[in-house]
Formats: sequence, C-alpha cells, structure tokens
Amino acid sequence: MSDDLRARVQSVLPGIRSDLEDLVRIESVSADPERAGEVQRSAEAVKALFDAEGFTSEIVSADGGAPAVIAHKAGPAGAPTVLLYAHHDVQPENDHADWDSPPFEPTERGDRLYARGAADDKAGIAAHLGAVRVFGDDLPVNVVMFIEGEEEVGSETLPALLAEHHESLRADVIVIADSGNWDIGVPALTTSLRGLVRMDIEVRTLTHAVHSGMWGGLVPDSLMALSRVIASLHDDEGNVAIKGLHAGPAADVEYPEDRLRAESGAAPGIDWIGSGSAVERLWTKPALSITGLDAPKVAGASNTLVPAARARISMRIAPGDTAENAVARLVEHLEAHTPWGATLTHTVVDTGEATQIDATGPAYDAARSAFTEAWDGTEPIDMGVGGSIPFIAEFLDAFPQASVLVTGVEDPDTRAHGANEGLHLAEFERVVLAETLLLAKLGAE
Ligand code: BES
Ligand code: MN
Repeated sequence: MSDDLRARVQSVLPGIRSDLEDLVRIESVSADPERAGEVQRSAEAVKALFDAEGFTSEIVSADGGAPAVIAHKAGPAGAPTVLLYAHHDVQPENDHADWDSPPFEPTERGDRLYARGAADDKAGIAAHLGAVRVFGDDLPVNVVMFIEGEEEVGSETLPALLAEHHESLRADVIVIADSGNWDIGVPALTTSLRGLVRMDIEVRTLTHAVHSGMWGGLVPDSLMALSRVIASLHDDEGNVAIKGLHAGPAADVEYPEDRLRAESGAAPGIDWIGSGSAVERLWTKPALSITGLDAPKVAGASNTLVPAARARISMRIAPGDTAENAVARLVEHLEAHTPWGATLTHTVVDTGEATQIDATGPAYDAARSAFTEAWDGTEPIDMGVGGSIPFIAEFLDAFPQASVLVTGVEDPDTRAHGANEGLHLAEFERVVLAETLLLAKLGAE
C-alpha cells in the first residue's frame, strides 16, 4: 500500500505545487485592512480548490471576522472523521528590499520555493489538498477541511466559528498543519507550545517637556525611568525575573550548539541568555522581549526631558501557566519596579494560552508510524515550540474527545514571518506523503 501511495503522491505533486503557487500570488495579509479584498479572494481560491476535489464547501465568517473555508467530503460509512486545519492568511511581507525575489511571486532557488506564505501556511493547505487528491473519490476517512483566514492576527473570531459550526466541524482526529519538523530529514510532532501575553506600558514623569539643562539632575526623564523598568524584567543571567510565572521541566532533546548558532540568526559573539537546557529556555520557560518603543527619534532630539515613553512587551508563557496568571504577575512586577514615583499605565494587547498535548493513543500511534515511513525510517521526535497557536486550546475545549495532532511544513530555516520565507520542497513532499499515510492508517483502524 505504501509504495503505491508514494507513487501517487509523486504524481499529484506537480499539480499541488502549481496550486500552491497560485495561492501564494494572492496577497492575503490579514493585518492589512486595505487587503481585506485579497483575503476574500484567497478564501474563494481555497474553496474552488476543494470544490474541484469533490468537496462540499462554504465560506463562513463570524462577528465580522475574516472569511474561513469549511469543506466536507465523505469516506466509507463508519470511518472516523478527520479535521484538517491550516490558515490562508499571511503575515505582512514588510520591506520588499529585504527580499531576494518579490514576496508574492513564488520563486525557486536551491532547495526552496520562496514567497510570503509559501510555508506559513499556504503549504499547510497544499499538503491537505495533496493528501486528499491522492485518494480521489476513495477517501479512507471522512474529511472536514477547515481553512482559517485570521490566524496571523490572533484568531479572534475562531471561538465563535467553532461554536456556530460545531456540528459541521465535529471530528475524531484534528490535524493542525501550522508548525513544523525538527530538522531537514527529521520529522516531529509538536506536543507543546508556549502561550503569549502582549502588553503596552507607558511611563510618565513630567506633565510636559522641559529644558534638560534647567531641570536635569532633579527631575527624572521618562526614558530613563522606562529603561529601569525594562532592565528589571531579567536577572543578571538573562532569566525572566518576574516572580510567580510557571516554568516546566526540560524536554529530553539536545539542540546542538552549531545548529542554534546557524538557525537563530544571533550575531557573532552574542551570549545566550537564561539558564537551563536550550530547549527548556525555548519551549518550557517564559521569555520576554521588547518589540517596540515609542520615544523621540535620535535625529532631531533636542535637549529636553521626555515626559512620557512607551514600550511593547511581548512575553511567552510556559505550558502549565495561564495568561491570566502571567498578566497579574507581570503587572505586580511592573508596579513594584517603577522608580522615582513615575506613573506606569498598562494596556493588554492580546493573550493566548499555552498548550501541552497528551501525545498518546491510536491517532498518535498512526501518526508516528506514518511519519517514520514518510521519512524512510527516521522516527518523529516529540518537540515543543516557543511560538504560540492559541486556538489549539480552543479546539481542545470545543472537542474534548478528539485527538489533536500538530504538524506542519516548517523547518528551522523557513523564516516564517521574515523576509525570504521559503518552503523546503523535498521536505514538503515528505509532509504530503506523511499526511497521506496518516489518513490511510486512520481509515484502516
Ligand atoms: N505558525 C506560527 C506558530 C509557530 C511558531 C509554530 C513557531 C511553530 C514554530 C503561527 O502562525 C504564529 O506565528 N503564531 C503567533 C501567535 C498569534 C496569536 C499571532 C506567534 O507565535 O507569535
Ligand atoms: Mn502560521
């Protein structure tokens, strides 16, 4: 069976590749209100692809959210139902000058196909499409396709969609293709993801700007005060210094130093921060970064005490913690570390829960055996990721009986969200084969 499926995957691959290229040419940037029409066009293109496979599909949205596609195709009576998830929206491409080829023109160079969304996550859609195209009208399971349109902006209306379409989305197994593998040639199942808290803070020390020579030395400026607040957030080793955050045990995975150096983008000479194993720091401990600052520009800065300054805090929380706890502990810390009587105000931008998956049971057995076959005998590792897919917790809440498998096409050098995002084409073929084998195994149980 497996040799036959392998040959069929190879025969559908050129068509899938061209369908993926067509999807990638649509600029479905969900964060850009001016491209809402492109997100709609993208949903229509996705719907047309599944209609052509004999699915019955509809474009749905809830509470004015982005359009998602739900599509159904039946397998044999009594077979399990498998929900295949991916998202058709993409991150902004940002500065075109940073790209080596136009961001929305799929371009093959070396081992990869480069474009925004070529991996995250239009290749997830293409992988699902490939797996169902292989089976034609003989699907081994009932398939529900669920392709979301606002993952990259936090899946705000996903709970409403899950509630409104609960019956139509009900499944025994949920495959979420929005993560990746451990390395080129080494598959993985993602079994833990960090949660996320984003918060904007403002520190104020003056009611209006004043001359820095006249008042400096007596009156603190807001940038100095904000810097002290920010500096308090890590200890000298670089661990997050906020008390009361959860940290979990290390996964038993060794991330080799040379790979960390090559894949992380760290500049030469940079020290790692924090303590514990690398994967502990990346997957099961909290992390905190400053991702934006509002302050006067250096060019044109005058000799003035700046009255107020703002920063965006982006915090990752460990599996086992809750966003509610993390927000409360962060606020306590900020209040206790605001110097000189400055006023600190905070606004929560968004939060998302972490996930720890129980990676056992028949669906996981089927997935491990499918992945091992697709990667020619290399067994998948259980990996964590430091990034977040907050809606996994929502799927688990909505369908507590279902097994959730988190898979995907990304590899350590995919550069999702960055310039020169690229899909590794040989890995992509293995991902399609693995999903095909998985559906066959789930149907054979
Ligand atoms: N595909 C990523 C999640 C991910 C990141 C998986 C790293 C594997 C490795 C997803 O599209 C994403 O970027 N999520 C956001 C959170 C969301 C609420 C905007 C993130 O992690 O920043
Ligand atoms: Mn994604």
